[in-house]
Amino acid sequence: MRIMVLGGDGFCGWPTALRLSRDGHEVTIVDNLSHRRIDGELGVESLTPIADIDERLAAWQRVSGRSIAFRNVDIAQDYDGLRSLLSEVDPDAVVHFAEQRAAPYSMRNSATKRYTIDNNINATHNLLVALVELDLDAHLVHLGTMGVYGYSGDGFEIPEGYLDVSVSNTEGQAATRCILYPTQPGSVYHLSKSLDQLLFQFYARNDRLRITDLHQGIVWGTQTEETRLDDALVNRFDYDGDYGTVLNRFLVEAVNGYPLTVHGSGGQTRAFINIQDTVRCVALALAHPPPRGERVRIINQLAETQSVKGVAELVASITGAQLAHVDNPRKEAESNSLQASNQTFRTLGLEPILLRDALLNETLEVVERFKHRFNPDVVPARSLWTRENRPGVLPDPIGGGAS
Ligand SMILES: NC(=O)c1ccc[n+]([C@@H]2O[C@H](COP(=O)([O-])OP(=O)(O)OC[C@H]3O[C@@H](n4cnc5c(N)ncnc54)[C@H](O)[C@@H]3O)[C@@H](O)[C@H]2O)c1
Repeated sequence: MRIMVLGGDGFCGWPTALRLSRDGHEVTIVDNLSHRRIDGELGVESLTPIADIDERLAAWQRVSGRSIAFRNVDIAQDYDGLRSLLSEVDPDAVVHFAEQRAAPYSMRNSATKRYTIDNNINATHNLLVALVELDLDAHLVHLGTMGVYGYSGDGFEIPEGYLDVSVSNTEGQAATRCILYPTQPGSVYHLSKSLDQLLFQFYARNDRLRITDLHQGIVWGTQTEETRLDDALVNRFDYDGDYGTVLNRFLVEAVNGYPLTVHGSGGQTRAFINIQDTVRCVALALAHPPPRGERVRIINQLAETQSVKGVAELVASITGAQLAHVDNPRKEAESNSLQASNQTFRTLGLEPILLRDALLNETLEVVERFKHRFNPDVVPARSLWTRENRPGVLPDPIGGGAS
């Protein structure tokens, strides 16, 4: 297939592009390198030293003998650039990772709130409009998030995107409707993904676009089979207060002798998936496109659910680190339960990698190798959800004084 990977320089997009290229697809990466620009703005760096995009692509050509094309287009701002590229490539499928994806960054200030909505909604809408304008039948696979469902923990299994509801009409008779699962976004970033859903619902129905929306959990892990082939292919590892996900924070803290900073009680339960499974799931979704005219297909892309404290305890049991509870900068429930169906990918044959089985060998190895690049100053979360919240603080290193 000819596949365009929008956001293919990013944490999920880069390994996905490599895997699709290895599988024999003709891959074009489209990225405006905004994550690298935001790293500069925040004064942070990936723990792993990521090569620039030209070096990455040259290394891939060297080790695999395959080439991946790259185009620097801002798909939110440059509609004409996106449209002419789609027309030139005429893709069979488009994988859309190209959004601002950090919840804390989206809550930082008015400028980042506006940027997140402008960027994410325009990116998605431009893509949909261009597919319609060019009358392309490409299958669109979008990376959404489990966070759109909210974390109310009502003790039932969250379905894959849709909910059957029953309402009484004026005569008191029951009528049933299948509706998008009501969203409960916990940040402006999650809000942008909730709005994406409506755009997909409309264009799947109105223009019969073939769309799969993957509601993904928090991704952990760094390397895949392909990114391991050369140092210039290494994937990014974000651990800063904005882009670093919770497990990455715990891992760098543990390896560098800091206690693991658990926000609040740590009772918040979230969905997790390994980066290797992200790549597998996208490949599976591409291999099973919905027929034209079907509603947007929503698939939950998660391997397991774990509480933040549970994840911290797991890392502590492997590394001997201690736990430190710090103020939670987010506005969220202290604790919640979370169960969500991952039936579709299970049925398609996914045997997910679980934290308990794979944490030690793979991810810690990467963190150990690059620990000399660790900067403790960038770890604390400085984005506050509300004015009342106080920022979390990184305690001193174990043995280094007060904790
Ligand atoms: N990483 C996770 O844990 C996670 C979890 C759930 C969902 N997701 C979703 O997966 C997708 C990819 O996430 P990621 O972790 O790889 O993020 P990332 O920031 O590393 O990658 C996104 C890429 O998109 C590019 N981009 C952003 N806006 C663009 C634009 N307007 N035009 C062109 N390129 C643009 C960025 O430069 C970046 O390279 C996101 O949509 C995110 O919401 C990620």
